[in-house]
Amino acid sequence: MIVTLDGPAGAGKSTTARELARRLGWCHMDTGAMYRSVALVAIRRGIDLRDEAALAAIAAGVAIEFRGGRVWVDGEDVSEAIRTPEITTATRPVANAPPVREAMKGVQRRMAAGIDLVTEGRDQGSEVFPDAELKVFLTASPEERARRRLEEERQRGRDVTLEEILAAQQSRDDGDIHRAVGAMREPDGAEVLVTDGMSHEEVIGRLLEWIELRRGRALGESTGRPAP
Ligand code: DC
Repeated sequence: MIVTLDGPAGAGKSTTARELARRLGWCHMDTGAMYRSVALVAIRRGIDLRDEAALAAIAAGVAIEFRGGRVWVDGEDVSEAIRTPEITTATRPVANAPPVREAMKGVQRRMAAGIDLVTEGRDQGSEVFPDAELKVFLTASPEERARRRLEEERQRGRDVTLEEILAAQQSRDDGDIHRAVGAMREPDGAEVLVTDGMSHEEVIGRLLEWIELRRGRALGESTGRPAP
């Protein structure tokens, strides 16, 4: 079974997807980390970020794995290296390049073949897995997302203001929504979950309920009996 979680930055997708996969004993695919990995390799190889064909070749050619809650590229743990501000910035043109998105779609579908998966990103339910058994658009108001991000940043000892976070978030949202290919949107048939005022546990609980419902339905279809 495939569950897709899409939504804007700061909606809590990563924490939610990781915890959901852990509870279910499923795999977790962080597709933002995949775009970040391509950017990291491109920077290290000195590739011009406007060279879309070269970027797509990296996307198709590097081995990205998710193991032990870490991200590995060609056998190297890059979990921290892909989260620097430099790589966050470099990931933007990488994710905007249509040939990169096309290559990534193929890679992501191959990685998902035959496994139970929670996959998160911007286009997982709309473009990559439109037939997923459960598609969720996870979001929260801009203020709520910024407040959560502010708390995380302060815990990391970074001195930023709510206004700075809101401005950066707005710019990322605009970039995600207005991308020519693979723009972020609510997938057809998706459940929309607005998490303002919900605890992490409540969000997980809701998703588990939806998964149980879908599984029951699938079981009913395969046995010919009505789902419980
Ligand atoms: O979720 P994140 O911040 O790690 O994502 C990194 C970048 O990749 C961000 O610019 C959005 C982009 N992205 C994308 O275009 N499509 C996805 N499926 C996932 C992320």
